[in-house]
Amino acid sequence: MAEDRGQFSSKLGFILAAAGSAVGLGNLVAFPVMASKNGGAAFLIIYLFCIAFVCYPVMMAEIAMGRRSQRNPVGAFTEISGGMKRWRLVGMLGILTPFMIAVFYTVITVWLVVYLKEISTGGLGMLAEDSAFGEIVARPSLFYYLALLLVVVFIILLGGVKGGIERLAKILMPTLAVMLLLLTVFVLTLDGASAGISYYLVPDFSKVTLTVVNGAVSHAFFSLSLGMGILITYGSYFSKEDSIPQSTRMVAMADTSIAFFAGLLILPAIFAFDPNTNTDDLSTSSVGLIFSFLPKIFLSMQAAVGYTGASVAALAFFTLVFFAALTSLVSIVEIPISCWIDEWKFSRRKAVLFQAVLLAVFAIPATMSLGISDFFTNFTFYGGVSKSFFDLVSDVFYSTILPLVGFTVCIFSAYQWKVSGLSAELSIGDDNFEGSRLQKYMNFSLGTVIPAVLLIVFISTVYQIYL
Ligand code: PFF
Repeated sequence: MAEDRGQFSSKLGFILAAAGSAVGLGNLVAFPVMASKNGGAAFLIIYLFCIAFVCYPVMMAEIAMGRRSQRNPVGAFTEISGGMKRWRLVGMLGILTPFMIAVFYTVITVWLVVYLKEISTGGLGMLAEDSAFGEIVARPSLFYYLALLLVVVFIILLGGVKGGIERLAKILMPTLAVMLLLLTVFVLTLDGASAGISYYLVPDFSKVTLTVVNGAVSHAFFSLSLGMGILITYGSYFSKEDSIPQSTRMVAMADTSIAFFAGLLILPAIFAFDPNTNTDDLSTSSVGLIFSFLPKIFLSMQAAVGYTGASVAALAFFTLVFFAALTSLVSIVEIPISCWIDEWKFSRRKAVLFQAVLLAVFAIPATMSLGISDFFTNFTFYGGVSKSFFDLVSDVFYSTILPLVGFTVCIFSAYQWKVSGLSAELSIGDDNFEGSRLQKYMNFSLGTVIPAVLLIVFISTVYQIYL
């Protein structure tokens, strides 16, 4: 069913869709806080290094695997390896991972919808109370919003690659960039913003430890949506006429710029609206920061702009975060859908409906994991603490497996497909790749340094979370 697979209409369509996937909660919230806590500009330099020397080659390898095979992750590993069973199994991990990430990401996006609804109906004051987040995530009415969100996501996905994913990204990504810019300019003109800028950007190399470098690699990897099968699948919709190295560079630059600008928005905002901010309260957890801390910051604006003004600013910010989350969610739900289309020859319509049911089946217990059901809230125990079903999915698939999938992509590209095969694919649509320094670096690093770094990140994450 070739017509069901679809293709991006242009290079720009691909870049916006891939950036839509990459730009998410990681950019808007986790990155600024991580940077400011770990040495400011010193962290930024390390992060840029990780993007350029670790993530960029893996990103190109994932996209090249997709374009070469014209398949989803299972199909890509199977096809390029000539049908080898062990690589097919690895490919299955590349489907299971996005499938499960979609489950808990859906739940977070539902919370964003509820926050948007509360803020627009005058509830900012309530959201700023300490108990608000705990109360909201345990509301049975979450199921209505879950149903609403699933309908929206699957209608977009029914539209296919061009009419759904690409169209959404073409509308939302420029809107997001403009909103981010306007909000940043507004915040930077406020008294007190400069304290936030120096907290964010003054370099402090004494804070840079091995753990910080480890955190920078894994965050860069996560931020570019690597190891989730997304770029393999998006690569399969990418035209043979266009250059993978160039387009990948654009996506990485867009993602990193948005993360950087988000830092110029969030930290100055925090210091301008609440000069007494205790920096220890700035958790690196996006969830804690967005849902518990930021409503308080927005509410503190009311002294200057009144309650309505504070609510409008909060609404603008949460809309921005919602757009970022929606484009990421759509990108990740597409991966299993592409698998059902390629491997089981489902029509897009049937694949979308099937995936909608599967996602709902898992998203319901994940939604019940924060107080609605005792069973799912205290689901298991590891690392010395009780964990919910939601925590389990997020720890295993979001925090742990991504570097492992990245590691397998490197080993596969370097030793199974071989660097010559990968190079040949990367030269299609790019006359400058053959013989370039980039090619030499990829040939050397993809089978050596990069998988070694990813393996270290994987092992240290396992150590931190489970032991
Ligand atoms: N790249 C996203 C971010 O930085 O927030 C991470 C992401 C999460 C992408 C979940 C897609 C997704 F479904």
